[in-house]
Amino acid sequence: MDRQPLKKLVLIGFMGTGKSTVSKLLAEKLDWKRVDGDEEIERLENRLISDIFAADGEAGFRIIETKVLDTILTSEECSVIATGGGAVLSEVNRELMLSKGFVVALKASSEQIIARVKNDTARPLLEGNAVERVNLLLEQRKHAYDFAHLTIDTTDMSAEEVVDAILAQHVIS
Ligand code: S3P
Repeated sequence: MDRQPLKKLVLIGFMGTGKSTVSKLLAEKLDWKRVDGDEEIERLENRLISDIFAADGEAGFRIIETKVLDTILTSEECSVIATGGGAVLSEVNRELMLSKGFVVALKASSEQIIARVKNDTARPLLEGNAVERVNLLLEQRKHAYDFAHLTIDTTDMSAEEVVDAILAQHVIS
């Protein structure tokens, strides 16, 4: 790990693992800016994620995602960044995250993920049978989040406990 002051805390993890909630609390505690990758994409594109998928497909969405992630990660501001669950699929994105910040992977049981996302209509990759889609994607991505500096299984933890666990590691790194 390099010795430059860390200015970015990057949260990765499958959909429904709590990145958004945890990023809000973390940013508050650190008094850092909070940036949500998906919200930035929607703001800059002036389109919903579901509309981008519908018009440009997943491949088109991934191109935009990489561009936006690069902008977010190369800014000078100290920030907590919540990334979309598939942002880790690109090697370029993974290298960027590792080189610019402290990367924390949030994990959760498939039951909890399903409970959190099953009624959500904003996630195009879960269209159809959400339970089947989650299980398939979890299988396909079972090692996709392994590159993080720190991994936390949030299944039995409150958001506050997750934040404390991250801060305990981040401060000494
Ligand atoms: C995706 C996760 C979503 C969003 C898009 C694709 C994925 O973000 O980026 O729907 O590939 O896992 P969340 O993880 O915030 O739901």
